[in-house]
Amino acid sequence: SSDKAWSGRFSEPVSDLVKRYTASVFFDQRMAMQDIRGSIAHAKMLARQSIISEQDFADIERGMAQIRGEIERGEFPWNLDDEDVHLNIEKRLTALVGDAGKRMHTGRSRNDQVATDIRLWLRDAIDDILGLLRQFQINLLSLAETHADTPLPGFTHLQVAQPVTFGHHLMAYYEMTRRDAERFADVRKRVNRLPLGSAALAGTSFPIDREFVARELGFDEICANSLDAVSDRDFAIEFCAASSLLMMHLSRMSEELIMWMSPRIGFIDLADRFCTGSSIMPQKKNPDVPELVRGKTGRVNGSLIALLTLMKGQPLAYNKDNQEDKEPLFDTADTVIDTLRIYADMVTGIRVKPEAMRAALTQGFATATDLADYLVKKGLPFRDAHEAVALAVRAAEQSGRDLPDFSLDELRAFSPLIGDDVFAVLTVEGSLAARKHPGGTAPEQVRQAIASARSRLG
Ligand code: ARG
Repeated sequence: SSDKAWSGRFSEPVSDLVKRYTASVFFDQRMAMQDIRGSIAHAKMLARQSIISEQDFADIERGMAQIRGEIERGEFPWNLDDEDVHLNIEKRLTALVGDAGKRMHTGRSRNDQVATDIRLWLRDAIDDILGLLRQFQINLLSLAETHADTPLPGFTHLQVAQPVTFGHHLMAYYEMTRRDAERFADVRKRVNRLPLGSAALAGTSFPIDREFVARELGFDEICANSLDAVSDRDFAIEFCAASSLLMMHLSRMSEELIMWMSPRIGFIDLADRFCTGSSIMPQKKNPDVPELVRGKTGRVNGSLIALLTLMKGQPLAYNKDNQEDKEPLFDTADTVIDTLRIYADMVTGIRVKPEAMRAALTQGFATATDLADYLVKKGLPFRDAHEAVALAVRAAEQSGRDLPDFSLDELRAFSPLIGDDVFAVLTVEGSLAARKHPGGTAPEQVRQAIASARSRLG
């Protein structure tokens, strides 16, 4: 038999093509540190339970320290013949410390080992994401605060709807990412359960102590069913779903940044370091970073679907299909982490052009609702008020004017209830200030929302 860890019962070696097809070491070696941590905790437990000797454990710890160094220095002899990160490390350990290395896998299987490694890896990734989300939010809040009073048209159907403040608009994205952070924190609870001890699928005949291993590795609890523990990848799917939602939010924001930066709108400019030029058109400055965020949202969505599809037909318990869980998961975490890192910085590079925002408010009759509300307060039923203002808007449109451009007499033609107090209502500032309930766009409410967000972020 060849020197494969499992080749004792085989009469011929696998072909090179099969070897490459079934190997995962090229992508799962990034879980090496988690694998070592998990193995040490497992071996420590085995020694405590007198399943291996204290000397074996000491040898394993010493060998693992050496391996850790080799990996960090890029000197570790990764080998395709050893299939995956787990067998590569175990083989090297045995070469370094002899029999203790061969005893390490007692009471364990790669099935519970890999599930443990992924969870350890993902837990770290989630913590990184939560930290970066926080930084993004902090930067978003300062921009929102600077523009708590800056008016621009709010849109529905991409048609001018009502005035809002830019700060209020940005705070909508704060709320979205606040839910995203809640989701990641919630996913983390289910990631942080220990599969180790489930062995291949049924548990092990050795007197193991799973609670001890859980404590050693910082898991909140152990997975309660061994069959489920080795085959569950819900936690990875949940993570990808939370990632898709986050990316969808950042993609929407990106779409707005791109539109706002178009000279036809011109609400903002983006710092040069987030844009690129054209190789043919010398005048160009393109918002490549937000465009790529929008684009990369596609691959994150794709990974979510890949994992859902990977799992849907698998009978219990572990199947080799599961090896395909890693690349979509890693790619998702990498994409989210890079995106948040760049986005947090990009928010500080948004230069706002308040004049352009205000100019846009002079088109589209953004305060028409305010005029209708005014008439209601004077006693007109809302539907009649709506009709009167619609006629006023039609007349204004025909004469190329805005509502505040009408004289009082002209306005009174649409309703005799209109008095000279109407002009305060028709201004952008009046419209904003009137929406002063919690959740509204009044500058005082925007400042309140920012203050609550800050205290939440600590
Ligand atoms: N490389 C495998 C994976 O990623 C490890 C578990 C393999 N177990 C097995 N019995 N083939 O899932």
